[in-house]
Amino acid sequence: MIRVAVTGAAGRMGKLIVKNVIEDEELELSQAFDVREIGKDAGELAGCGKVGVKVEHSSELNSKLDADVLVDFTNADAAVENICIASSKGVKLVVGTTGFTDEHWKKIEECCKVPAVISPNFSVGVNIFWELIKIAAKLLKGYDLEVVEMHHRFKKDAPSGTALKAVEILKDVTGKSKVVTGREGICPRKDEIGVFAIRGGDVIGEHTVFFIGMGERVEITHRAWSRQAFASGAIKAIKWISSIDKAGIYGMKDVLGL
Ligand SMILES: NC(=O)c1ccc[n+]([C@@H]2O[C@H](COP(=O)([O-])OP(=O)(O)OC[C@H]3O[C@@H](n4cnc5c(N)ncnc54)[C@H](O)[C@@H]3O)[C@@H](O)[C@H]2O)c1
Repeated sequence: MIRVAVTGAAGRMGKLIVKNVIEDEELELSQAFDVREIGKDAGELAGCGKVGVKVEHSSELNSKLDADVLVDFTNADAAVENICIASSKGVKLVVGTTGFTDEHWKKIEECCKVPAVISPNFSVGVNIFWELIKIAAKLLKGYDLEVVEMHHRFKKDAPSGTALKAVEILKDVTGKSKVVTGREGICPRKDEIGVFAIRGGDVIGEHTVFFIGMGERVEITHRAWSRQAFASGAIKAIKWISSIDKAGIYGMKDVLGL
């Protein structure tokens, strides 16, 4: 059995991870942490009945963490702290939190000394989407590149981690270095990559890269309509990282063998 602790266990993704862990016979929910819903049964919160694991305050993570893998879906500041705590205790990591700044990444790289999967998107489809835009960008030389993403009204960071990763891929392949986030006023298009974030309602997550030429365009789109797409990938990542001994930061590309 792989013993799994979850930080952000009362959140949208955290509850789903808890549910998936409880329902998987290779995994055992050892602990659940959050900064709210303290003392509630994590299984009940996740809608799958009492499991006897109470949500503990994350201020106790340092003294109480006891698991093989910590799964984190919180926010960028909290995740960095949780990563450092888990690493100091030799607990492996699966991190889905997004919105990391360069400063956050610096801290993560300094303190993460365990095997860790850190991915802004755990869905299999999005990982294939990233591969497809790589191919299209190589083939459609000289086409204008625009990235558009749409998420629910509660999402805190913009553009999404998935869109930013798409931009990094496009920069790498094309050599373009200029990125314009949104446009306003007089702003003639130059040799840039445009990025746009739409927010509203309960949209789970949609990403399109437009490759626009003269007289035609190619659009590559991924649409997630259930968070289960992310949770299933995170469960794959938990099982995969359990078998990895070499410390380092891995992506879903490694988990999926792409
Ligand atoms: N990688 C992916 O596939 C993927 C998919 C969906 C969402 N996300 C990202 O995951 C993160 C969480 O998304 P969500 O929709 O579940 O958000 P959410 O706001 O519903 O949940 C976040 C939870 O973290 C808790 N939290 C805050 N500080 C904490 C701390 N210090 N310790 C423990 N818990 C703490 C909050 O109370 C909340 O319950 C976001 O960064 C989001 O962009 C990633």
